[in-house]
Amino acid sequence: MTRVFSGVKPTGHLTLGNYLGAMRRWAEVDQHQADALFCVVDLHALTVDHDPARVRRLSRQAATLLLAAGLDPQLCTVFVQSHVDEHARLSYLLECVATDGEMRRMIQYKEKAAREQQRGGSVRLSLLTYPALMAADILAYDTDEVPVGEDQTQHVELARDLAVRFNHRYGHTFVVPRATAPKVAARVMNLQHPTSKMGKSDDSGPGIVYLLDEPDVVRKKVMRAVTDSGQEVVYDRQGRPGVANLLEILAACEGGDPEQLSGAYETYGALKKDTAEAVVELLRPVQERHRELCADPAYVEGVLRAGAEKARKMARPTVDAAYRAIGLLPA
Ligand code: TYM
Repeated sequence: MTRVFSGVKPTGHLTLGNYLGAMRRWAEVDQHQADALFCVVDLHALTVDHDPARVRRLSRQAATLLLAAGLDPQLCTVFVQSHVDEHARLSYLLECVATDGEMRRMIQYKEKAAREQQRGGSVRLSLLTYPALMAADILAYDTDEVPVGEDQTQHVELARDLAVRFNHRYGHTFVVPRATAPKVAARVMNLQHPTSKMGKSDDSGPGIVYLLDEPDVVRKKVMRAVTDSGQEVVYDRQGRPGVANLLEILAACEGGDPEQLSGAYETYGALKKDTAEAVVELLRPVQERHRELCADPAYVEGVLRAGAEKARKMARPTVDAAYRAIGLLPA
């Protein structure tokens, strides 16, 4: 059976981008078709300036939202990264296989490091080594497929490279994984800045639809989305990024094709109205289930505890094998 692994980082409230680019597929497809693990990758949240209490709160919220989005602990494994030591153990070995140059070439590193420096802050070393930890997340579980949005494909490519290099140098140890992206909405854009990704840790609140936004807030954000100077509704990602983004969101919500949908609209206003309602309807069941789960925190904790136990058992043999292969003396 195909093994699937993916994760979400608790650095902010989860967004429509996280849902359309990743979580929805995990719930609708992956957990039914594969042996799947989904992880709140809290260690990754420590790579930028952070408030410990907020990270704890966001980790709990992300786990609750994964379940609210439809992940079923009977079908898949849901857990928190820091509860399974194997991730950090393997990360160090992969740092010993990766090079400084390939880490520095990561687009997210360049962008985030530049942002930290602009703010006058310093760049944490863990921001540079982040992809080694992400590779460890993936490789520890003999993962075949990593369902992610477009922004993570470079990191998954690096995980592939590290797996191949390790296997070549030290003997076959890791399965070589591949990224899979959704057909539409692989990169949902910020509604106010449609040439930038809708990212949960960005500052532009009005351009980001959060999964827990009230329906009226969602409507307001979508209706105020920046569109382009033209009048016609055409699907052109380069030339008309604002309208293309709305068409992609609507297509992802309704299961259609953005190009085809564009023919059904005469005005931007009508497109925005339908997109807003489609997003509200998409989020409604997730929000309802989230409310129910918040009333039962012991259930969520139980799921995470059982998930970590299962994950640990799955990761241990591969990580132990990597320790032996690289030359460490067995304990
Ligand atoms: P993170 O937390 O930024 O995002 C979680 C998932 O959501 C996708 N995503 C998007 N998809 C489409 N449009 C968007 N605007 C958008 N924003 C986010 C991301 O591509 C991702 O699939 N490094 C990862 C977390 C991670 C991970 C892993 C993922 C750590 N270890 C191992 C897979 C496997 C990250 O920061 O995702």
